[in-house]
Amino acid sequence: MNSKLPQVGATIFTVMSRMAAEHGAINLSQGYPDFDCPRRLRELVSERLNGGCNQYPPMAGVMELRQRIAEKVAAHYGFSPDPESEITVTSGATEGVFDAVQAVVHPGDGVIMFDPAYDCYEPAVQLAGGHAVRLPLTLPDYAIDWDLVARNINSRTRLIMINNPHNPCGSILSPADLDHLAELIRGRQIYVLSDEVYEHMVFDGLGHASVIGHDELRASSFAIFSFGKTYHATGWKLAYCVAPPALTEEFRKVHQFVTFTSSSFVQYAIADFMAECPEHARELPRFYQRKRDLFCELLAPSRFSFTPSGGTYFQLADYAAISDLPDQEFVNWLTREIGVAAIPLSPFYRTPSGARHVRFCFCKEDATLERAAEILCRL
Ligand SMILES: Cc1ncc(COP(=O)(O)O)c(C=O)c1O
Repeated sequence: MNSKLPQVGATIFTVMSRMAAEHGAINLSQGYPDFDCPRRLRELVSERLNGGCNQYPPMAGVMELRQRIAEKVAAHYGFSPDPESEITVTSGATEGVFDAVQAVVHPGDGVIMFDPAYDCYEPAVQLAGGHAVRLPLTLPDYAIDWDLVARNINSRTRLIMINNPHNPCGSILSPADLDHLAELIRGRQIYVLSDEVYEHMVFDGLGHASVIGHDELRASSFAIFSFGKTYHATGWKLAYCVAPPALTEEFRKVHQFVTFTSSSFVQYAIADFMAECPEHARELPRFYQRKRDLFCELLAPSRFSFTPSGGTYFQLADYAAISDLPDQEFVNWLTREIGVAAIPLSPFYRTPSGARHVRFCFCKEDATLERAAEILCRL
């Protein structure tokens, strides 16, 4: 078989979650909560399921939901997108990323992304016939080197993919970063795909710098958000893309032939919940900051070294004081022999940095974090 994606195997999340299950390890690898989504949201889902919302919803998503999204985006980022022409509901952010890439990347186009890069980015570019230009984030804080970006932009560059807050690093972009980006693409036909699925997990009182809140960038950007992250319901695979009308039009041409639309009753239920509980998203940074602080406090006596995560529900940790193993071997050992699963960073690189860093996920019950930290502190 002449594979179109020869380098792609099972994702590292599948591999590590499977290994965790096989060895009965505490799973701090894949990013999903071990607690349930809000009870009221589940009630609304069953009301809508039993209330006849079971046929094809509109291709772009149910209008009630798009209206709630517009209100929420306006409340958080000061710009109200038009639900008719600027918001599209997708089956997860993964679909949104894929659709946006297919919408603008032509064969031979260059797409700049930053290593470590979330694993669905490069395959989407390859399937569009583009080539990924993977630039390293700079250590120690996994920041973007904008001079390096400037040096890598050329006439074939079509798209720049950013992920803010950043998985797996937990780093965040500042308004100054967005200004740099805007400056670099000014006057060029270069688009931005901004993966902001962790928009409500930004800590220490810093606001989330969304491209939607940036007047200039907004005009060239696809911004991707995920209900799965915000409502603790990763299994529902529901997300949305905000983009200006011309980009949305192209985005929807792809979306309508990838999934056409997403589960109707879940869309209605989330719209109901957003109207009833708008404070849920506002409270999320505090909710997850408390978990980050707890995990960091519990891990402080260990031999891992780390800087508390700036955003997401992931904490990077440097294990150089514990082991010389490369990161994949270290997490295999940690999962099989020690009983805690984590994610290595090397699968997110084209050329691994060699840093001894692993990612722990802290969107877990306090008791889970306490048990895991107790084990990790014995190393
Ligand atoms: C950075 C990033 N982008 C996209 C996704 C995919 O989100 P979804 O489950 O909504 O497809 C994830 C999920 O972990 C993610 O971490």
